[in-house]
Amino acid sequence: MSQMPPRLPDTNMIDHASAPATMNSPMPAAVPVRGRFITFEGIDGAGKSSQIAAVVALLQAAGLDVDQTREPGGTALGERLRELLLHEPMHLETEAMLMFAARREHLAARIEPALAAGRWVVCDRFSDATFAYQVGGRGLDRAKFDALEAWVHPGLQPDLTLVFDLDPAVAAARVASTGADPDRFEREQHDFFERVRAAYLERACLAPLRICVVDAARTPEVIRADIERIVRERLLS
Ligand code: TYD
Repeated sequence: MSQMPPRLPDTNMIDHASAPATMNSPMPAAVPVRGRFITFEGIDGAGKSSQIAAVVALLQAAGLDVDQTREPGGTALGERLRELLLHEPMHLETEAMLMFAARREHLAARIEPALAAGRWVVCDRFSDATFAYQVGGRGLDRAKFDALEAWVHPGLQPDLTLVFDLDPAVAAARVASTGADPDRFEREQHDFFERVRAAYLERACLAPLRICVVDAARTPEVIRADIERIVRERLLS
C-alpha cells in the first residue's frame, strides 16, 4: 500500500496567535474595530436627507470609511422591494413583513459586513421607521413588530439614531413644494403623520441613550451644527 504524502497545513487553520512571528510567518492581520451604525428618521418632509450628506462628510473628514445607504433598499433586491412598497397597495402586515425582508437582506449583504470590516454605516431609516409608520401610523400589532425585530436583528440596534421632529403640516408643505409625484406614504393624511410622529417620540422615550430627537423646524444651518455636535459628542470623542 502506497504511503500517503504528509498533509500540508491548511493556511486557514494556522494558529497565528501562538506561532512565533518570523520573516516567513507574518504577524496576523489586526482584527478591525467594528464600525458604528447611525440612522436617520422622521416623517416625510422633515428634512433628514439633506443632513445625511453633512454627517457623512463629517465622518469622512475624521478619516473614517463610510457606507451610506437607505431603507427600504440598499441592495438590488431591497430596491426592488422598495418599488413595491412605495407604489403597490398591500395589506399592512404584508407591508411590515416586506420592510423586514428588505432589512434582512440589507443586514446580511451590506450592513453587517461593513460594520465587521470597520466601516461606519449611515442609513436613511431602519426599524424605528417600521415602528413609527407600520405600528404608529397603520396600527400594526406591536407584538408582531417586536417579533419581527427580534427575528431579523436580535442584539443589533443603531449606535445612534437622529429623529427629525417636525409638525406634519409643515412637513406636508415641504413635500408638496418639491412638485414630485407623491408615493403611497406621502399621500397619507395629516392624522397619519401625527400618529407616526407620536410613535417616533414614544420610541425615543424608550431608548433615550440611542435616540436623539432633533427639532427640524429650525434652519438647515442650525440643524446641521446641532447634529454635528451630537455625532462628535456621542461617537467621535
Ligand atoms: P424615504 O426614503 O425617507 O422617502 P423619500 O425617498 O420619499 O424621502 O422613505 C420611504 C418611505 O418608506 C417613507 O414614507 C417611510 C416608509 N417606510 C416605512 O413605512 N417603514 C419602514 O420600515 C421604512 C424603512 C420606510
